[in-house]
Amino acid sequence: MEMSSRATIGYVGGDGYVIMASNDLGLAERDFQVPDRILTAVAWPYANGSIHIGHVAGTYLPADIFARYHRLKGNEVLMVSGSDAHGTPVTLTAEQQGVSPEQIFSKYQAEFLDSWERLGISFDLFTTTHTDNHASVSQDIFLKLHERGFIYKDTMVQPFCESEQRFLADRYVEGTCPHCDSQGARGDQCDNCGRTLDPKELGDIECRICGNTPVFRETEHFFLKLSAFEDRLLEWVRKQTHWRPNVRNFTIGYLEGGLHDRAITRDIEWGVPVPLDGYEDKRLYVWFEAVIGYLSASIEWAKNTDKPEAWEDFWKAESRAYYFMGKDNIPFHTVIWPAMLLGYGGLNLPYDVPANEYLNLEGFKLSTSRNWAVWLPEYLDRYEPDPLRYVIAANFPESSDSDFSWREYVRRNNDELVATYGNLVHRVLSMVNRNFDGILPEAGELDDVSNSLMEEARQRFDEAGRHLEAVRLRQSLQAAMALAQATNRYLDQKAPWRAVRQDKADAAQTLYVAVSVINCLKTLLYPFLPFSSQRLHAMLGLAGDAAAGGWTWDANELKAGQTIAKPVPLFAKIDNEVIAAEAQRLSD
Ligand code: MF3
Ligand code: ZN
Repeated sequence: MEMSSRATIGYVGGDGYVIMASNDLGLAERDFQVPDRILTAVAWPYANGSIHIGHVAGTYLPADIFARYHRLKGNEVLMVSGSDAHGTPVTLTAEQQGVSPEQIFSKYQAEFLDSWERLGISFDLFTTTHTDNHASVSQDIFLKLHERGFIYKDTMVQPFCESEQRFLADRYVEGTCPHCDSQGARGDQCDNCGRTLDPKELGDIECRICGNTPVFRETEHFFLKLSAFEDRLLEWVRKQTHWRPNVRNFTIGYLEGGLHDRAITRDIEWGVPVPLDGYEDKRLYVWFEAVIGYLSASIEWAKNTDKPEAWEDFWKAESRAYYFMGKDNIPFHTVIWPAMLLGYGGLNLPYDVPANEYLNLEGFKLSTSRNWAVWLPEYLDRYEPDPLRYVIAANFPESSDSDFSWREYVRRNNDELVATYGNLVHRVLSMVNRNFDGILPEAGELDDVSNSLMEEARQRFDEAGRHLEAVRLRQSLQAAMALAQATNRYLDQKAPWRAVRQDKADAAQTLYVAVSVINCLKTLLYPFLPFSSQRLHAMLGLAGDAAAGGWTWDANELKAGQTIAKPVPLFAKIDNEVIAAEAQRLSD
């Protein structure tokens, strides 16, 4: 086989793949491609509770896989988020626990950072909305929009609790949703149908501190003039035919229902101050300032580099911004944030908003209040990160709700990670060690079976890349695992353990081809299983970072003569007893 004249899968800009003929320049050719800029904007978790697997599935893992893929491709990626520190989610938790909002926020900020590290969520910056930088960027946007008439002052009625003697913002009231009739809708949003709400619309409204029915009192607030953007937004969203149908349809329905101006200040003490005299006792609405976090975090990231204007590359120059989140966040990212950006001017709108549906747990909706959840820090205390990444990615709720169960977790770990992928690696690397002294043998001229596996690897590589490009992560993982299965079939057919005694050259070819395809799997699976790919990279005798070779396969191909380490199992079998033990934990 002539390794040097093979076509290489390369990437040329935003449109997709081309097959480039590889030449003596090899990798150098790739370096001439102008990289794309990809802002990976990840929804900011409220700093009032731990991350659970629903958040992992809906937001953090998809964002991480996507960012890792684009970094492999050599694109410039900026992946930012932070903890959403303000507003009533945090104050309510603080009040319930009898501590300050600062204490709640700092506890979870530290915990989030630890969770990202252990799960391998590769933020370029995970900051918080509780920074001076964020406050000043938010206030700047407020003032610009105010100056241009997109923010105006008005009086409104707000629920007021007479026994507590205070206004009840957002989460301090609960009632029935006027759109879907579900109970427990909050003052600003219904979790069930995702609509944004005004407390006046809630049926059977109650104060969440004392349970009394609030009265409505007049108070002065600032309003964001969303109505001014209705037509422009509708026109823009209709053109976003690359969006997921659920996201686009929800947004079009939302806009067609008519855009009403919304209050963006609150009568609370915790949050970003209103930058105008006379409003010292009010704060910016948490959603108004949190979405600004994408921009303020980009600015903060740039300040920490040697190029403080670098954020402009992602916000003012040609760049694509992908926003990752669960479906309850859609209107804030497809309507309210774009309206703010249009009003401010000169900054890029979202390119895609690949929001996810929900991940259920053992057939039931996750619930933090009923403690029906698998908490990420606890998971990471007990198990390895890659199996969780794998099982969740295989079940990503990309187009409809999906389910996580411990039975499925154990089954997929044992049947797919261990049996299909891990054992493949182990068998092949062991045979190279046992029969070829740990030196990758020469392939010789490839026979048809070998050629067709190599061809399948090229096709799967291409297929996996196309899916990642379109944020179809689940399908990309399926393409990679299909290649692992094909490699197992190839081994069964070629039986190198037998051939080694009768036709050593044939066994050599089989092992060469299998190792080469395993090297391909290492890259295909790197966005999903970064820890395992790194270990595999080292076992293949390669130094440095598994991602350094980029999103290529042939160009990095292992050469005969390469030393292959004695393999250590990539994944461990998980005992079935885990299923019952975890069921017990859930019911405790
Ligand atoms: N904290 C919100 C939630 O958990 C998400 C905020 S996303 C941001 O639902 F864009 F506003 F930051
Ligand atoms: Zn509803």
